[in-house]
Amino acid sequence: MRSFKDLVTDFGNHFAVRHFPEQPSSLYEPNEYFLSWGGKRIRPVMCLMGNELFDEIHADTWQLATAIELFHNFTLIHDDIMDQAPLRRGMETVHIRYGESTALLAGDVMLIRAYEYLNKINPQYLHRILSLFNTTAREVCEGQQLDMDFEKMESVSLDAYIQMISLKTSVLLAASLEMGAIIGGASEGNCRHLYDFGKNLGIAFQVQDDYLDAFGDPEKFGKDVGGDIRQNKKTFLLLHALEVATPDQRKELEKLMQQNPADKVERILAIFRDCNIDEWAKSLKDKYLQTALAHLDAIAVRSVRKEPLQELANFLIQREY
Ligand code: IPE
Ligand code: IPE
Ligand code: MG
Ligand code: MG
Ligand code: MG
Repeated sequence: MRSFKDLVTDFGNHFAVRHFPEQPSSLYEPNEYFLSWGGKRIRPVMCLMGNELFDEIHADTWQLATAIELFHNFTLIHDDIMDQAPLRRGMETVHIRYGESTALLAGDVMLIRAYEYLNKINPQYLHRILSLFNTTAREVCEGQQLDMDFEKMESVSLDAYIQMISLKTSVLLAASLEMGAIIGGASEGNCRHLYDFGKNLGIAFQVQDDYLDAFGDPEKFGKDVGGDIRQNKKTFLLLHALEVATPDQRKELEKLMQQNPADKVERILAIFRDCNIDEWAKSLKDKYLQTALAHLDAIAVRSVRKEPLQELANFLIQREY
């Protein structure tokens, strides 16, 4: 059994090959450029861990993990267009560097490449994996649309926010674990608990992402800090501030969101700080982490096998990038 860190290295080595043809380079070079920046490789590693929780890592799981990482990178290229994001992983985003139309196609062909890797998997479990993969991909689209719909709304409920981040982010983490576990021969019951572990952990992961988008160190974070505020994203930070702010602060928040002044980000951050956002972020992450860990506990395998997943959980909610 390998630790979380070892698996990150192993997957990094496995993935470091060319995934696209040379020509037309105007289409494929953007993708190679994007993939070369790396990333944390969390989802493919979760897939490997899901397998290794139950059995030795199967050759098919490497194909599946590769497909998952390509799918994730496809969502990021399109997400950066939707979010008008200039930076990712410390580098210029694909649509800024190559234009929106190329970024759309580069994302499309990355998704198709993901399915080519999936198609290499043994037919014995391909059907089950494809069903889960497709359901998850559809849910990510639903979450991404809700995320944009919410930009135009004055406020949304905390439940609606949790539902939206579950769809856009956490179902993919959950499915990555479960798809690996399917190849590892896990029982239905173990698959359910593993999925629910990933889903709750994924919520805590996106809460941390939203926190870092406001308060992260730009050097470490690699994305444009304050981007969510500029886009009027309905993150838990804003929802919580709207709930606990004084009437004057609330009016100011509403005005800032409508008028987009040059100092919008600093002024909103000041209100967030006043509302003790740090504490609230911690308690929200902790709530979902505890639920996740209860599901991990319920999986019927020896607890020593669960250690890499515990290591992963701690990393995900404390990460700075
Ligand atoms: C970014 O995911 C998109 C979110 C769901 C927050 P990651 O933070 O896993 O991105 P990389 O792959 O490590 O860059
Ligand atoms: C992205 O959420 C979720 C997906 C890419 C599906 P965010 O928009 O918060 O992700 P980042 O912050 O750009 O990585
Ligand atoms: Mg984004
Ligand atoms: Mg987004
Ligand atoms: Mg984000």
